[in-house]
Amino acid sequence: MADKRDFLSLDDLSEEEFRSTLTRAIELKELRANGQEHHSLRGQTLAMIFEKASTRTRVSFEIGMFELGGHAVYLAGEGSQIGRGEPISDTARVLSGYCSGIVIRTFGQDRLEELARWATVPVFNGLTDMYHPCQILADLQTILELRGSIDGLRYCWLGDGNNMAHSWIKAAAILGFDLALACPQGYKPDEAIVRLAEERMRANSRGSLTIVSDPADAVAGCAVLSTDVWASMGQEDEAVARQRAFQGYCLDQKLLEKANPGAHVLHCLPAHRGEEIATEVLEGEQSAVFQQAENRLHAQKAVLEAFLGTNR
Ligand code: CP
Ligand code: NVA
Repeated sequence: MADKRDFLSLDDLSEEEFRSTLTRAIELKELRANGQEHHSLRGQTLAMIFEKASTRTRVSFEIGMFELGGHAVYLAGEGSQIGRGEPISDTARVLSGYCSGIVIRTFGQDRLEELARWATVPVFNGLTDMYHPCQILADLQTILELRGSIDGLRYCWLGDGNNMAHSWIKAAAILGFDLALACPQGYKPDEAIVRLAEERMRANSRGSLTIVSDPADAVAGCAVLSTDVWASMGQEDEAVARQRAFQGYCLDQKLLEKANPGAHVLHCLPAHRGEEIATEVLEGEQSAVFQQAENRLHAQKAVLEAFLGTNR
């Protein structure tokens, strides 16, 4: 498949495709709610390689393929030859012979890119250390549902300058919204990602990034607040040092009250209650986290259709 397209980061979507994926996700959600089957990927298959743990991503991709009339096959790192050191380039070529697409959750973005280079079918990023693009689509679908528009709002990211923060930065650059990030010293987002986003925002005269250290400065004026664990998968050894570094970054009721009235709270989950987010906020009426988690299914179905679909 010479013209196959991969979904390795949000940069693989034009602004128009980004927006149409969100509206398609909402359409697919409505079809499902009305009990209408929609087999746009009948006969297609997806291999799903997971080298890190997952609940939402794995289940939503697998159920998503089923609901679109296709089939998904799960491969854990352990229990497949991937975990025994078979080169990813070999895995890519073998799976390309069986499957219509491959999703991978792994560590380095370079490993995802290597898989995509050798695969002759579309490759989807199910989370790397650098990005988590599928999550942001579900997050913005949620805001679209709650507010009727994703535009004209100020967004906030609290905590680690991690894969989620990087994907929010990319989304802000593509869609042209204002994003404030509060990250402790030493845990700021990748400078190259920030620079590229700022260049795109300048070129389009839309959107802005504000990176501060004080969470109260970041949340002021924001309609959407998002946070994530302080130690991501693969950083377990740093958990204690990170707990120290992130003191004061808990999204609690006091901080929430500094944002716009009725601001929406997002968290990609899994959450550590009492660390990056207070239980009363996660479970409170401004929290959209379980709607957000459900939307992983609908958003990924829209992505699968966009990259695999031929017979919609
Ligand atoms: N948010 C998210 O990606 O969840 P999982 O790690 O459970 O897939
Ligand atoms: N930043 C987190 C996201 C989990 C969905 C991690 O990479 O572990």
